[in-house]
Amino acid sequence: MVGMIGRRLGKHTLHCKVDCGNSQAFARAHGSTIGVMNTNLQGKTAVVTGGARGIGRAVVEALLAEGAQVAFCARTEASVKQALDELGAEDKVMGQAADVRDVAAVDQFLAATGQRFGGIDILINNAGIGVFHPAGELTWEDWRRVLDINLSAVFYFCRSCLPHFRQRGGGQIVNVSSLAGRNAFAGGAAYNASKFGLNGFTEALMLDHRQENVRVSLICPGSVDTEFSPRGRSVDSSWKIAPEDVAEAVIGVLKMPARTLVSLVELRPAKPPQK
Ligand SMILES: NC(=O)c1ccc[n+]([C@@H]2O[C@H](COP(=O)([O-])OP(=O)(O)OC[C@H]3O[C@@H](n4cnc5c(N)ncnc54)[C@H](OP(=O)(O)O)[C@@H]3O)[C@@H](O)[C@H]2O)c1
Repeated sequence: MVGMIGRRLGKHTLHCKVDCGNSQAFARAHGSTIGVMNTNLQGKTAVVTGGARGIGRAVVEALLAEGAQVAFCARTEASVKQALDELGAEDKVMGQAADVRDVAAVDQFLAATGQRFGGIDILINNAGIGVFHPAGELTWEDWRRVLDINLSAVFYFCRSCLPHFRQRGGGQIVNVSSLAGRNAFAGGAAYNASKFGLNGFTEALMLDHRQENVRVSLICPGSVDTEFSPRGRSVDSSWKIAPEDVAEAVIGVLKMPARTLVSLVELRPAKPPQK
């Protein structure tokens, strides 16, 4: 059974699509708030891709605040080092430069995480890039880079984490997609294709592994105030979703009681500028 619940998160509206096993469970979930009978994140180990900056960084901080141990990767050594210096929490966090497109680097990163923290319970696939050109002007390299990072790498991380989850009796995956995974726009051919693909992959993954106690969720934000845009930060970004708000939604999804799977969350700026 699929139901929709709405909940205010600060100034943003969180629309959740909740998959429940039966109508009684739906009634319980519908009548309760996200804070009731939470899954405890204390002592769990989470992997966050693209965790040095932006949304990923906010998720790393939120997970640490919940008492989880966190391993994150990012593209560059400099970015990882800066994040580690700013985070502190040395015994609870590890960071590594690992290009998510490089399967050998991903394997090494996940093996190092397992060794350091004794297993993996949670995977947040967040690393992503945007390259925005009309389809006729996209290079093959642009196309490959966007699809490889935003889609193929997510498949690889999920596949590689499933054996870790089996050892723990289950796990959770949150894939950070975008409203661009539902709404195409001019100039978005590569980005739209990657995020539409990610949405389809995530739903199939959820159906494939839900009976193994693996809960898979998709988070689709609109504009978030980060350095993601190739054009740089806008002059007035106060209307955008804050990275911390996306992190709050991720934590809400992870803390859902084990009986309930939040399959889809959409986050929108409450008042975008009028066109
Ligand atoms: N910002 C938005 O408006 C928005 C809206 C909807 C969805 N999203 C999605 O949210 C996710 C995060 O976006 P963001 O705004 O936080 O981006 P961001 O501020 O640009 O941060 C991206 C992070 O991903 C890392 N990364 C990029 N390519 C990588 C690679 N090949 N291997 C490993 N790490 C890599 C970066 O590493 P370095 O620090 O080393 O560069 C950085 O830490 C993306 O999937 C994006 O599509 C963003």
